[in-house]
Amino acid sequence: MSRVIAIISTTALAAIVLVAACSPATDEANGSEDAGKTVTKAMVQLAGTKGNEKVSGTVTFTQAATGVLVEAAVTGLTPGKHGFHIHALGDVTCADGKCTAGHWNPTGSAHGGPDADVRHHGDLGNVAADLNGQATYKRVDTVIQLNGVHSIIGRGIIIHAGTDDLTSQPTGAAGARVAQGVIGIAAEK
Ligand code: CU
Ligand code: ZN
Repeated sequence: MSRVIAIISTTALAAIVLVAACSPATDEANGSEDAGKTVTKAMVQLAGTKGNEKVSGTVTFTQAATGVLVEAAVTGLTPGKHGFHIHALGDVTCADGKCTAGHWNPTGSAHGGPDADVRHHGDLGNVAADLNGQATYKRVDTVIQLNGVHSIIGRGIIIHAGTDDLTSQPTGAAGARVAQGVIGIAAEK
């Protein structure tokens, strides 16, 4: 008798497991639909580092026919040019921005300007803030990629206190880090 009950309950358990496996929660279903999809747009929410809390902004990366369109809007800056780079890591847990490590440089190249033949993948040049501290940036980059082994997804973005001179090694001498963010896959909206 007890064996019969054991068999029945095992069968019932198997049925429950089967139902559960075939009816995943909505979030999980969405996740599996996204798996393997080509990324066409990425998004960054910038936050000011310690002592630079008034700096904020967004950066978007959109796949275009000729490269990746990079658009940024930053506020709260001091007037003038500020180094603007993709850094190697998306770790924004350090108040000074330094957990994002150095410039994203998967090819072991020297630092340069965004249009230079030799540059880090992360070298996007500068954003230029007006007298109100507002900066916008719009440029199609032919080096960075949203997919593949050198994808920028999950890496960091840094805005610097000073100007990237586009030549000093290995950072362009742009100084402290005033804002940081992580490059994530954008929602479709
Ligand atoms: Cu930088
Ligand atoms: Zn660089």
